[in-house]
Amino acid sequence: MKRIKAIYPGSFDPPTNGHLDLIERGSKIFDELVVAILRNPEKDPLFSVADRRKMLEAMTSDFENVSVDTFDGLTVDYALRIEARAILRGIRAVSDYEYELQMALMNRKLQPGLETVFMMPAEKYSYLSSRLVREVAQLGGNIDCLVPEVVGQKLREKMDVAHKFENGAQPTEKTHSDGRGKSSRKETKKRL
Ligand code: PNS
Repeated sequence: MKRIKAIYPGSFDPPTNGHLDLIERGSKIFDELVVAILRNPEKDPLFSVADRRKMLEAMTSDFENVSVDTFDGLTVDYALRIEARAILRGIRAVSDYEYELQMALMNRKLQPGLETVFMMPAEKYSYLSSRLVREVAQLGGNIDCLVPEVVGQKLREKMDVAHKFENGAQPTEKTHSDGRGKSSRKETKKRL
């Protein structure tokens, strides 16, 4: 019998409970699911790829058929390289549909043998996005029920660093999540 491997590609900056919900659903229908973090040099992410990988690995450690990887370039090329036959994507609301349809059709054009499978996360996560989680955390809102514990902890650490700068502390070499060295206070604020 054919085993079906799928990838779940995304930015995951940061991973949320919505992502976790989808991973759990995906792990039930695919034999193997690879959560694939896009290494996108053009974006200025809050968390480094290494941090996102660690968080996703911690969140998914209970799922035996789920692994975490990173990739760059085209999603379809990565999928082909690791012999995946499907791309898993989540659709939360109608507003996601247009972009997701465009992406799925482009991916199909590029690689006709690869199927995109859409799944819906639980209704309670339909409003949840990484962008909103970043914004709520930055403005001091409670993100506890929006993200897994390991992500909440990392976000709190980021906020603590930002607040220290607000109160006049000098940035240090370790400030950047991706280890790029010194940050200005202004830059740290922007990144959050
Ligand atoms: O979590 P996101 O940011 O919505 O994920 C978008 C992602 C990473 C799936 C998409 O941007 C992507 O596939 N990027 C890789 C480059 C690529 O294949 N582009 C063509 C997509 S049709």
